[in-house]
Amino acid sequence: MFHDNSEKTHSSESTEDRNQSPPRQKNSTHAPLEKTSIDARHVILILSEKGGVGKSTIAVNLAYALAARGCQTGLLDLDIHGPNIPKMLGLEEHQLESDGKSLIPVRMTKTLQVISMGFLLQKRSDPVVWRGPMKAQAIRQFLSDTKWGSLDYLIVYLPPGTGDEALTIAQIAPNVRGAVIVTTPQDVATLDSTKAISFVEQMDLPVLGVIENMSGFTCPHCHTEINLFGSGGGERIAQEHHVPFLGKIPVDILMREAGDEGCPFIGKKRDSSTWEAINAIMERLIAEIDNQ
Ligand SMILES: Nc1ncnc2c1ncn2[C@@H]1O[C@H](COP(=O)(O)OP(=O)(O)OP(=O)(O)O)[C@@H](O)[C@H]1O
Ligand SMILES: [Mg+2]
Repeated sequence: MFHDNSEKTHSSESTEDRNQSPPRQKNSTHAPLEKTSIDARHVILILSEKGGVGKSTIAVNLAYALAARGCQTGLLDLDIHGPNIPKMLGLEEHQLESDGKSLIPVRMTKTLQVISMGFLLQKRSDPVVWRGPMKAQAIRQFLSDTKWGSLDYLIVYLPPGTGDEALTIAQIAPNVRGAVIVTTPQDVATLDSTKAISFVEQMDLPVLGVIENMSGFTCPHCHTEINLFGSGGGERIAQEHHVPFLGKIPVDILMREAGDEGCPFIGKKRDSSTWEAINAIMERLIAEIDNQ
C-alpha cells in the first residue's frame, strides 16, 4: 500500500521515498467513480475558498466535540500541501500504519480516530506536488481500505479552494450530508465564501452552514471588545444565500495556543465563551443533519 512513486514530484527528496505516494491508478478512464464502502452514517466536509480562516482549527475542535459527546467520530485530513492537523493534534511524528491489509487510523480517544495525508510525508516541511488521480487514489484508500469501524460522523478536512479533493470525496464517499463553510467576517473573505457556497451547490450537496471564525476579540487586559476582522460577514452571506448560519467563534489566544500545543481547545477549557460557541456550533450542526 502507498508504495508506487512513479507519479510523484517532490521538491527536495528523491523519488525513492517510500512513504509519500499512493499506488498509481490502474484505470485512468473517466468512468463515473464508484462509491466506497466506508461505514459512516454522516460524512461532513469542512471547506473554505480562502486560506487561513481557521478550517483546520474548526475541523479538529468539531471532531473532538462530537467524539466527546459520545459519537464515534473519524477525522480525515485531506490536505497534503499544508497538513496542519497532525500538529494541532500532537501527532506530528506519526507515520501511516497498516496491518498488512488495511490502514489503521490513529486512535486519539475511545471515540475519535484520525487519518491525515500528513502521515504520508516524511518531513512535514517539504512541499509535495501530486497529480489529481494520485490524490483520488489515496482518498479512496483512506475511505475503503482503512479500519475505521462503524462511524457516526466522518469529518473531512479539505485544503483551501475548490479542487480535486472535494470533487473526489463528494463522488466516492457515501452519506455525504453536505459541507460546512468556514469564513472570517471581512469582505475579502466573505466574497470568497460566496464562491465556496456556489461550488458546494454545483456538487449537488447541501451547505450545512456557515461558521464565522475570528469574529471579534476581547482584550484580556482591559476587556474592550475589538472587531479585528469586522463582524457579521459570515452571518450576512448565510442569509443572502439562504443557508444556515452555525455561529461565530471569537479570536481567542487560547485557541491559537491550543493549536500550537497539539491539544484541541475544546478538550481543555470549558468555562469560556469560545468553548460555548464551539459547542453550540457542534449542536447546531447535528440538528441540521438530523433535520435533513
Ligand atoms: N478563533 C481563533 N482564535 C485564535 N486563533 C485562531 C482562531 N482560529 C484559528 N486560529 C489560528 O489561526 C491560524 C490559522 O488557522 P487554521 O490553520 O485553522 O486555518 P486554515 O483555514 O486551516 O488555514 P489553511 O487554509 O492554511 O489550511 C492558526 O494558527 C490557528 O491556531
Ligand atoms: Mg488548514
